[in-house]
Amino acid sequence: MRYQAREVDVEGRVRLVMESALTARDRVGVQDFVLLENYNSEAAFIENLRRRFKENLIYTYIGSVLVSVNPYRDLEIYSKPQMERYRGVSFYEISPHIYAVSDNTYRAMRTERKDQCILISGESGAGKTEASKKILLYYAVTCPSNHHMAALGDHLLQANHVLEAFGNAKTLRNDNSSRFGKYMDVQFDFRGAPVGGHILNYLLEKSRVVHQNHGERNFHIFYQLLDGGDEELLNTLDLERNPQNYQYLVKGNCPRVSSISDKNNWKVVMKALTVIGFTEEELQKLLNIIAGVLNLGNTQFGEGDEGETCITTETEISNLAKLFGVDVSALGEALTHKKLTAKGEEMVTPLSFEQAMSARDALAKAVYGRTFSWLVEKINQSLALKDEIYHSSQPSSLIGLLDIYGFEVLLQNSFEQFCINYCNEKLQQLFIELTLRSEQEEYETEGIEWETVQYFDNKIICDLIEEKHKGIISILDEECLRPGETGDVSFLEKLEDTLGGHHHFVTHKLANGKTRRIMSREEFRLLHYAGEVNYNVNGFVEKNNDSLNRNLKEVMCQSENHILSHCFRREEVMDQKRPEMAATQFKNSLMKLMDILRSKEPSYVRCIKPNDGKQSGRFDEVLVRHQVKYLGLLENLRVRRAGFAYRRRFEAFLQRYKPLCPETWPNWNGRLVDGVSTLVNHLGYKPEEYKLGRSKIFIRFPKTLFTTEDALEAKKPEIALTLQTSWRGYRERAKYQRIRHAVIVIQSGWRGMKARRRAKRRRQAAELIRRFIKGFIYRHEEYCPENEYFLDHVRCSFLKNLRKNLPKSVLDKSWPTPPSLLVEASEHLRILHMRNMVMKYCRRVQPEWKKQLVQKVVASEIFKDKKDDYTQSVGRLFLDSRLEREQINLKVVQTLGNDKVQYGASVVKYDRRGFKPRPRQLLLTNTFAVLVDRTKIKQRIDYTALKGISLSSLSDGVFVVHMPTADNKQKLCVPQGDVVLQCNNVIELVTKVAMMADKIDYVNINPGSIRFASARGREGIIDFVRGSEMKVAKGKRGHLLVTVPRTNST
Ligand SMILES: Nc1ncnc2c1ncn2[C@@H]1O[C@H](COP(=O)(O)OP(=O)(O)OP(=O)(O)O)[C@@H](O)[C@H]1O
Ligand SMILES: [Mg+2]
Repeated sequence: MRYQAREVDVEGRVRLVMESALTARDRVGVQDFVLLENYNSEAAFIENLRRRFKENLIYTYIGSVLVSVNPYRDLEIYSKPQMERYRGVSFYEISPHIYAVSDNTYRAMRTERKDQCILISGESGAGKTEASKKILLYYAVTCPSNHHMAALGDHLLQANHVLEAFGNAKTLRNDNSSRFGKYMDVQFDFRGAPVGGHILNYLLEKSRVVHQNHGERNFHIFYQLLDGGDEELLNTLDLERNPQNYQYLVKGNCPRVSSISDKNNWKVVMKALTVIGFTEEELQKLLNIIAGVLNLGNTQFGEGDEGETCITTETEISNLAKLFGVDVSALGEALTHKKLTAKGEEMVTPLSFEQAMSARDALAKAVYGRTFSWLVEKINQSLALKDEIYHSSQPSSLIGLLDIYGFEVLLQNSFEQFCINYCNEKLQQLFIELTLRSEQEEYETEGIEWETVQYFDNKIICDLIEEKHKGIISILDEECLRPGETGDVSFLEKLEDTLGGHHHFVTHKLANGKTRRIMSREEFRLLHYAGEVNYNVNGFVEKNNDSLNRNLKEVMCQSENHILSHCFRREEVMDQKRPEMAATQFKNSLMKLMDILRSKEPSYVRCIKPNDGKQSGRFDEVLVRHQVKYLGLLENLRVRRAGFAYRRRFEAFLQRYKPLCPETWPNWNGRLVDGVSTLVNHLGYKPEEYKLGRSKIFIRFPKTLFTTEDALEAKKPEIALTLQTSWRGYRERAKYQRIRHAVIVIQSGWRGMKARRRAKRRRQAAELIRRFIKGFIYRHEEYCPENEYFLDHVRCSFLKNLRKNLPKSVLDKSWPTPPSLLVEASEHLRILHMRNMVMKYCRRVQPEWKKQLVQKVVASEIFKDKKDDYTQSVGRLFLDSRLEREQINLKVVQTLGNDKVQYGASVVKYDRRGFKPRPRQLLLTNTFAVLVDRTKIKQRIDYTALKGISLSSLSDGVFVVHMPTADNKQKLCVPQGDVVLQCNNVIELVTKVAMMADKIDYVNINPGSIRFASARGREGIIDFVRGSEMKVAKGKRGHLLVTVPRTNST
């Protein structure tokens, strides 16, 4: 089971704090070979690799060395999120990966400010170039960058396309095999952004230009040009599309490779060349050279008339001369003749057929090889740190990437394998030197006693190869320079003479019987640190010479193609000194490379290919064992394990294992060393199992660590529970705090708003009060700004108040008291209102009611404030008549004829003499009134003749109708004198009579007594007095005495 406890670090990145290398060991072996118990066993080593490979875990560490097994399939472990996972994470915190190496190197460069290098080695097809590309991509993606830096990252990646097109080829082992060694420097500025780059190339396999083994191809660029170039381009270059037409492309009989699309790659390369900054002209010249090399291959030789060697392919040679920009005859001459200088004299000798062929091939190799170097130079110019960037960003450190061939052991090993294996010896030497040195330095800094480490030091082999005068290279050079017949056989003899007896050198002659049987006579065997390799000496001398006839050089240096004239320098031709031999050149470049690498902190990536068939998922143990051996991986492990298997800084160790000891869990507050000491004592470590340095604990055996790890595994559920609990608590607390904070924010916002509103209201109120007071003070002034508010307010509030308190009826005389400034307006309003009410009232009045009212108004005019019982009569309605129709005698009605009775009432008539009361009916018509005694009209009173009507002011019903004195004409029907009557509804009756007679003003109300005319000019008096009850009787002195009770109003 894999545990991945995560903790969020300061930058918020998720860091895997579990040492996955340890926890995953049970399932898929160990992720670090250092933890392999049986570290001396090759079988255990390979088994570990195999188990991991089967699980697609292609990366494993040996300490800080990364072992990578080519998966031959796209694993989804190179995405951007994966890159992010590895950023800033320590080696042991996360599963092994090329990104871990890239990132650690980058961080070491930044933190320690020391140049770094990553050495990638391995057999052809093991994945070195892929690894180097992944590292570059990692930097391009993860490093900080600006516009220029992004462009540089792009240039670095594009440069790879160009180098691969010109320097890679399909071989039997790899469809995209790098046929040169490459060292690339990436320069970073103080911010850690890439600002420049530089590439060094080593030992290009030039022989491939002229020859390829069966099933292999020439460099990709030739096929790309023929397949991808358009017709027009091919025409200008005098090329045909079919690669089979070119001698240099037919040897391997493999024009096409299924895994490669030459057409697409052509586009990619052309784009890359443009991006890097090649001009149109440079491109043209470059393609001329490529086409020239193809034409050169097709140049054939024959025998002339005089037996001399001559060129038989005229067209090709003239095309070639055109493409190379050289004189055709000079070129032809140089290809068939050789110029020698003997005793200061120049001699030209013809070449044999074979010599001419090899001169041609030598030219092709030289042209291609030098053009390749020019290409690298050009790329370097584009990657070079620009001056302005140098000044602005102050480059700080470098990371070097070495993508170089690993140990090569073929069936037939030649000069190239010798050089390659020599290179690997040197790299192993450097590895030992640097690893041991760092190991020793670590022990010293940690104050731990240095124990001698048992390992094989390959210095002896390096010396065997490179030592001055006695080394193989020196002997080879000597053989090449020696006058007279030189050759591979004499070189071998020389080796035997000089090196015979060396423990690491064997030949057929020097070998014992058993070895002799398996070695050929043309071979010598070197016992490399990684194993034995037999080299066939055939071709050693020629390859070391790598010479090009001088006259060919002369022709080339006169080329109009500036790339060629740059590659073939005139000085080279003029210089009489022999150029350095190939092996020495290689040795010197290696020395320089070692110096470069030595000045840097190295990291290693060792690549292994799992099978020869380029198949995914197949793990060929024999092949892998072979590589493990030749890469010296066990040797690596042994050196790494010479001392302690495991070391870790105190804080890291304590952090990981503290749960295992009650004193250190959950936190140790003392010194770290004491904490670790307490912890290991608690765990029961024996003294020989570990050592405490100054800042690290060193554990000798993996077993000790695994036991501890197992204990931790067992403890994890408990820890998980604790972590869960505290995490949940933390989360809930955080949630609570967030809510609380939110509540406070809302509260304060709300309160603030409320307070602001209140303050605003108060301010407005204060302002109002101020205006009010000021207005009050100025209230008597003219309307002005000081009092306008107050006055408006007073008006407004009066009007508002008035609106509410308006009288509801015409009788309601109440009216709110107006302020002084509105007295006039108020009066107007009051009148208006009253009129309005009256108008409304009048509109509502019915004719019946109107009649009633008219009578009441008349009654009011007559009686108001004059007669006591008037007030009581107001509320009582006047009736149309007090007599029912049936109560009036028909005879009377007939007597009246057309004069309709309008009103009738029962009255009491008092005789003028004796005041005898007689019941009568008083009937009113429109023009007169009559007194009726049952059926008989007793008296007629014409309204026109009516002189007046008198009443007392008291509440009695007595009234006197004053009539004129009788004349003869009316003698019959009109009694003489006035009529004294009494009735219950005196006010109603008198009002009606007055209205009908239209004699309202004739009604008199007399207080005290009424005089009336009696018969024959005499005069009667009626006295009115107040008494306890109503009484009408004849009083003293012949007066009629009316006693009237008091009413409420009197
Ligand atoms: N990490 C990887 N993931 C997937 N495929 C890979 C990986 N590494 C290598 N390969 C495959 O293996 C092939 C060979 O790899 P590469 O060209 O890097 O080998 P090399 O070690 O550089 O060989 P040479 O020495 O011949 O140049 C690649 O073309 C690719 O198909
Ligand atoms: Mg490669």
